[in-house]
Amino acid sequence: MKILSLFRTLSCSGILCLTLVGLAETTAPIDRDTWKLPPEPLTLRDSPGIDLMKANCLLCHSTEYISTQPPLKRSQWEVEVTKMRAKFGAPIATNTVPGLVDYLVKNYGTTNR
Ligand code: HEC
Repeated sequence: MKILSLFRTLSCSGILCLTLVGLAETTAPIDRDTWKLPPEPLTLRDSPGIDLMKANCLLCHSTEYISTQPPLKRSQWEVEVTKMRAKFGAPIATNTVPGLVDYLVKNYGTTNR
């Protein structure tokens, strides 16, 4: 019994020791003055409504989420914007929605609107 408990004590302190060494190796100092986010290419079409899109749609994800969709009808873009607000919590004012949908339909809509 005594040997077993000594073995447990030794192996536990061994693991703890390894953990501490691991932590020390992975916590290299970060240079806060030079660290930058990677560049974010703006792939949305530059046309009226782009500023509204920038202000309301780029909080959470890249523009590719929008620009790589297949062409959608107005009703489908309305559902998308509603989903961003209702399901994902996008803080988009109700009176801003028509302007956003207009931009989306004009630039990423089907010809059959
Ligand atoms: C509050 C955060 C948030 C905002 C703001 C937001 N989205 Fe999203 N969006 C999401 C999340 C979360 C997903 C799903 C990501 C995933 O599945 O990986 C998503 C996915 C999408 C997709 C991919 C298709 C889908 O339904 O998953 C499209 C298109 C899209 N968003 C359009 C928009 C548009 C247009 C706006 C502005 C009107 C917008 N988003 C604003 C959170 C947001």
